[in-house]
Amino acid sequence: MSDQIWLSCRDLERYLGEEDSRVHALRGVSLDLEPATVHAVVGPSGCGKSTLLYILGLLDQPDGGSLTIDGHAISGLPDDELARKRNELLGFIFQFHFLLEDFTAQENVMIPMRRLGRLTESEMLARAAQLLGEVGLGAKLRRPSRHLSGGEQQRVAIARALANNPRVILADEPTGNLDAANSNRAFQLLKKIVREERKALLLVTHNSAIAEACDWIHEMQDGVIVGSHPREHE
Ligand SMILES: Nc1ncnc2c1ncn2[C@@H]1O[C@H](COP(=O)(O)OP(=O)(O)OP(=O)(O)O)[C@@H](O)[C@H]1O
Ligand SMILES: [Mg+2]
Repeated sequence: MSDQIWLSCRDLERYLGEEDSRVHALRGVSLDLEPATVHAVVGPSGCGKSTLLYILGLLDQPDGGSLTIDGHAISGLPDDELARKRNELLGFIFQFHFLLEDFTAQENVMIPMRRLGRLTESEMLARAAQLLGEVGLGAKLRRPSRHLSGGEQQRVAIARALANNPRVILADEPTGNLDAANSNRAFQLLKKIVREERKALLLVTHNSAIAEACDWIHEMQDGVIVGSHPREHE
């Protein structure tokens, strides 16, 4: 198991913008995410954190370098194949959680399952109920998400990210719009699930308390990782 790596990238490069105002947003980024590990990416605004996350999330393509997810090389794949890999292997949590507010918590969690199309309606309902139970929302399955608190909505977003049992969860400021207590609670919950289910989590954060509680802090500047620091925890 020790040589297993859920996500690995080497020398990722990305240019953004038009010819006359081109930004070299990624200048050779390499990372390895092992099972049951939690990684923070930190760095000043504009250093390329979201650009990196989009590429690792197969939502954007690099101009150079390579990416492997669960042993599958990702390059030159057609769009439909990329979409399938994204649905199968990756879960996403973003700051503006993009829940469908008229949908219930349970329906929101079923969205990625519908996209993957492997479960029957009743299997999807049962899995969504189970995941929402794990994040402490078992009693609010049928509540429209607009009638949930910010912290509860973030827990629905966590359950939704887990819907298809991904290898890797990518999160951009996942707790950015929550107060400190709720933010810490959502992060601890996510970390516990990632450890128990041997997933890998990569999160972008400006919250130093959350970064310090990760296994690794990757410090980014001007499109490169300038330092990767392991954190020792109990
Ligand atoms: N579509 C785009 N066209 C041109 N430049 C872009 C585009 N998207 C991002 N950039 C630029 O690329 C660089 C990296 O942006 P990115 O969004 O990755 O930063 P970030 O580290 O996530 O910042 P923040 O902490 O503010 O979210 C910035 O200079 C940004 O202005
Ligand atoms: Mg960003």
